[in-house]
Amino acid sequence: MKTLPFGLDIGAHSVKAVWLNRENNGFFLKSALTYPAPPRGMASESPVDQQEMAHVLRKIVSEGKITTPYVNIALPESQVYTRVIEMPVLSDKELASAIYWEAEQQIPVPLSTISIDWSVLRRPQDGQITEKMTVLLVGAPSSLLEKYQKIVSLAGFVINSIETEVLSVMRALIGTKQHPPSLVLNIGTQTTSLAIVREQIMIFTYSIPMGGSAISRAIASDFGVDISKADEYKKLYGIAPNAGGGRIGKATEPILLSIFTEVRKAIVFYAEKYKSESSIQQILLSGASAKLPWLDAFFVAVLRVGRWLQAHPAMSKVTSKIKDRADRLLGKNLVIPERETSSVFLKNISAYKKKMQESREGETEEKIDKPENMPG
Ligand SMILES: Nc1ncnc2c1ncn2[C@@H]1O[C@H](COP(=O)(O)OP(=O)(O)OP(=O)(O)O)[C@@H](O)[C@H]1O
Ligand SMILES: [Mg+2]
Repeated sequence: MKTLPFGLDIGAHSVKAVWLNRENNGFFLKSALTYPAPPRGMASESPVDQQEMAHVLRKIVSEGKITTPYVNIALPESQVYTRVIEMPVLSDKELASAIYWEAEQQIPVPLSTISIDWSVLRRPQDGQITEKMTVLLVGAPSSLLEKYQKIVSLAGFVINSIETEVLSVMRALIGTKQHPPSLVLNIGTQTTSLAIVREQIMIFTYSIPMGGSAISRAIASDFGVDISKADEYKKLYGIAPNAGGGRIGKATEPILLSIFTEVRKAIVFYAEKYKSESSIQQILLSGASAKLPWLDAFFVAVLRVGRWLQAHPAMSKVTSKIKDRADRLLGKNLVIPERETSSVFLKNISAYKKKMQESREGETEEKIDKPENMPG
């Protein structure tokens, strides 16, 4: 059987490679590796740094015993423009010229500096011309594509396909199985991307320049430690309310709440656009920053605040362990007025913050040990 290309994701923090094979109508994982990204990563224009990146790619492939030279690349979300747009129903030929006009409206840089590609996600059935068609539009800086091309050939590989990180994550998590309307949240190092997927089609995507490095910086500045120590605290204790008097949770709260605000906005957008359909029923967390201990409980806690999402179907699926943790994050006996608007929901975020504060003040720290030299 012909082998598949391997998948490559060069992130700000780590380089990841995965190699699959097709077997019995499914996929078999042959190899998966993560390597620290060289310090200047893909941002550098220097040939020396590009050689170093190529060296890392060769190393990863040789350690993973990947024997195909063909590679599928996931481009960093922070550097590409991914838009899901609605357009009047057009033929492929009409779309090929109309898309450039649309791209000019959607992409805030001159089209001469980027390469664009598009794909029709949904075209209404014949005869339903009042409906619109949904088109995925991606614009990538030509200089970025050239850099990838250069580094990949320096490493001795051949690009088979290029897509964006959020699309790869979405396909990996949603796959071909039927999923209810879902929100995919990928929290990386410098970027957090979210996508709403309905009937296996992405209908919305958005990225913000925030992720694990902002979390580490917040901890480092609050505790007066260097980034590597902050990383250690972050991975070991996360935002557990009892670790260091809840200080990590407090220091990182503005970042987590801004990520959550984007999630909330996307959920509100979906609810308004697809009023008659079922709401988003699951949030799929991905990206290594999603491993932040207690992050799952944080999301359950903030989503449960307010009746608006309290009866949310996704909430019935969370395990009792996460529910218990969410209760601890919220504090006990939190009484939330039963209202349904998103403005009330925002107010309740303040209630959540207040409750977090109170529970920190009232809690003892006996359950989770502090790191030996953790201040505070
Ligand atoms: N167990 C953990 N708990 C919390 N954070 C973690 C954990 N493990 C890794 N991280 C953080 O996850 C981030 C790396 O995530 P990931 O590998 O998904 O990013 P990336 O793909 O390299 O970055 P980007 O997508 O932003 O370019 C780093 O900030 C790292 O500190
Ligand atoms: Mg990433």
